Amino acid sequence: MPIKDRRKTHKMQSICFHFCLFCVPTAAVCRRAGEALVIEEIEVAPPKAWEIRIKVLCTSLCHTDVTFWKLNAGPASAFPRIFGHEAVGVVESVGDNVEEVKQGDRVLPVFLPDCGECRDCKSTKSNCCTKFPFTHYNGMPRDGSSRFKDSNGLDMHHFLFVSSFAEYTVVDIANVVKISSDIPVDKACLLSCGVTTGVGAAWKVAEVEQGSTVAIFGLGAVGLAVAEGARLRGASKIIGVDLNPDKYGIGKQFGVTDFINPTNCSEKSVIEVIREMTDGGADYCFECIGLASLMKDAIDSSRPGWGKTVILGVEMHGWPLSISSTEILRGKTVTGSFFGGVKAKSDIPFFVKKYLHNELNLEGFVTHEISFQDINKAFDLLLQGKSIRCIIWMDK
Ligand SMILES: NC(=O)c1ccc[n+]([C@@H]2O[C@H](COP(=O)([O-])OP(=O)(O)OC[C@H]3O[C@@H](n4cnc5c(N)ncnc54)[C@H](O)[C@@H]3O)[C@@H](O)[C@H]2O)c1
Ligand SMILES: [Zn+2]
Ligand SMILES: [Zn+2]
Repeated sequence: MPIKDRRKTHKMQSICFHFCLFCVPTAAVCRRAGEALVIEEIEVAPPKAWEIRIKVLCTSLCHTDVTFWKLNAGPASAFPRIFGHEAVGVVESVGDNVEEVKQGDRVLPVFLPDCGECRDCKSTKSNCCTKFPFTHYNGMPRDGSSRFKDSNGLDMHHFLFVSSFAEYTVVDIANVVKISSDIPVDKACLLSCGVTTGVGAAWKVAEVEQGSTVAIFGLGAVGLAVAEGARLRGASKIIGVDLNPDKYGIGKQFGVTDFINPTNCSEKSVIEVIREMTDGGADYCFECIGLASLMKDAIDSSRPGWGKTVILGVEMHGWPLSISSTEILRGKTVTGSFFGGVKAKSDIPFFVKKYLHNELNLEGFVTHEISFQDINKAFDLLLQGKSIRCIIWMDK
């Protein structure tokens, strides 16, 4: 039997965490900015000290993958590359010094390290690890090198310390959270980036209060998760702003009470409409799209005196944000956060419990499911505004 067929038969017959002769892993490789991913056979090195190798169970596409996939210049543009940073998997093997997890454990890889040792990880005020700063995101956090080679033996770049568009990946122990296997795999996958970012931003960064008003620019997975977090915190008015009219119906499931489609505002601006709806400006505004102009609109829509704006979008053109100092003098606050201010190792298990206690709604985020072979469809669905999250199953 040809080796490819033997591999196929072998895969169907066994749930094998370990590599063997017949299990050459594959990855969806991006060779050039904006080009379709290609499923290729790859080599995944064994984990070094402080690292683990994970068998990815499923992964999903977040808009940050799309932003970097399109990027064709600058130091953050690196190809060939294995994208993907929202996933769930099982520990296949562990390197030296790893005690936190063992083979067979269910884990979430996360893009933001939580080393537990540096000043930031020890402080409740920060989730931006300074031991592994966000500079080596083309490789591993400790030495910047790659654990992936293509079939010609050439190195391939990592993405955001995770690279989950591969059957197996290697992740630093600082970027891993052990989770309960009670949560269904697809729901767990959502907590690896987008949903945690949104819920965390409402919960931990804004600390939305009972009865407050909230405006959310962009109702993708991140914005909808902000709505879910604001709903859980008792916000009385949650306004969604999105160009896609379908997002109102979807948003209602997550607590969105009002909707603004910027193209239907007639002579008024979105800012004026929000100010009218909230008697002077929303208590909390969130930007979940990634455009500097909308970050400014979010700040302008917040209430003078105490309005707080949280920037979550990754500016898709790398453009700077310009803020009027008068708005700041009026008492407005602007902040932003990676991963919704969440400290991965302590906060994700808390969100898992909230889901298992039927408090956190994760059901409505999964709009599509596809097999790994069809991964490019996940890009089409997100870019066409059809999906919230598309679960990409590695073994189906
Ligand atoms: N801060 C973080 O840690 C973090 C984590 C995850 C994602 N992100 C960023 O958050 C943003 C959202 O990610 P997502 O996966 O939810 O994206 P998404 O593509 O699913 O959602 C974006 C939404 O914005 C809407 N939109 C686009 N342009 C608009 C405009 N001009 N006016 C109004 N609505 C508009 C789209 O219709 C869509 O509903 C991205 O910038 C992503 O990079 C940041
Ligand atoms: Zn993400
Ligand atoms: Zn740290």
